[in-house]
Amino acid sequence: MSTPAWISGDIPLDRPNAARMYDYFLGGHHNFEIDRTAANQASSMWPDMPLVMRVNRAFLRRAVDYISAQGIDQFLDIGSGIPTVGNVHETARRSNPAARVVYVDHEPVAVAHSTAILRDVPGTAIVQVDARQPEQILAHSEVSRLIDPDRPVGVLLVAVLHFVPDDDEARRIVATLRDALPSGSYLAISHGSFEGLPRATHDRVAGLYERTPTPFRGRARAEIERLFDGFDMVEPGVVNIPLWHPEGPDDLMLDRPAECAGFCGMGRKP
Ligand SMILES: C[S@@+](CC[C@H](N)C(=O)[O-])C[C@H]1O[C@@H](n2cnc3c(N)ncnc32)[C@H](O)[C@@H]1O
Repeated sequence: MSTPAWISGDIPLDRPNAARMYDYFLGGHHNFEIDRTAANQASSMWPDMPLVMRVNRAFLRRAVDYISAQGIDQFLDIGSGIPTVGNVHETARRSNPAARVVYVDHEPVAVAHSTAILRDVPGTAIVQVDARQPEQILAHSEVSRLIDPDRPVGVLLVAVLHFVPDDDEARRIVATLRDALPSGSYLAISHGSFEGLPRATHDRVAGLYERTPTPFRGRARAEIERLFDGFDMVEPGVVNIPLWHPEGPDDLMLDRPAECAGFCGMGRKP
């Protein structure tokens, strides 16, 4: 498979990729045959999967709205993905046109497409850093340029920490960010879980992600709660994703929230 013209440089297309599968699930076009095949296999194992991706995306919008309503106008979106409808700067700028956003992803297609989209959008940037290197994120020149370290920040780890299989590493990422953030900053997390899914379905879907560069690790709700150590939880705490500040029919799966097999929550640094 050759690399398409809209990407500069070589993209490894020998394996499916979680960012591009997510793009496909959301109806995007920045994915390849190998990604679509894997995504279709995942959907055949778990037919709700495309819906669950939209459930997660709706949480991202509600989380940004909530954080913006607290007066926060600078965001760090880690594991930001391939830009699609409802990007963080678009959502944040509905209430504050001056909001600034640094997007972070390690996947070359996500970075290439974000670069193209954000080129003419002042106050935004995309940086290619691995979330497992939070020190590098915090020290990045684009972060220094766009984020004032003395004012609260909204940090988003939305649908990314389940791609960090090691528990200690996941906790260290959050702790490093927490320690660097000023008081009054907010952290939003959404995270896949095996709770709510038959274990066999979870294991088969997780088996598919073993073929990608980012194996999937569902976590129990209690483990996801522990990621918020050192934060004051925003009500209602860590809940199934549709149940976090639902607003209406766009927040899908409200009638069977546990079946989304994912939890989310938000914390405020005291
Ligand atoms: C499911 S998408 C979520 C995108 C967006 N946050 C959202 O919720 O709509 C997961 C993203 O995390 C990225 N990702 C996975 N592991 C990562 C890592 N170690 N460092 C940075 N990004 C990572 C993937 O490349 C992908 O773009």
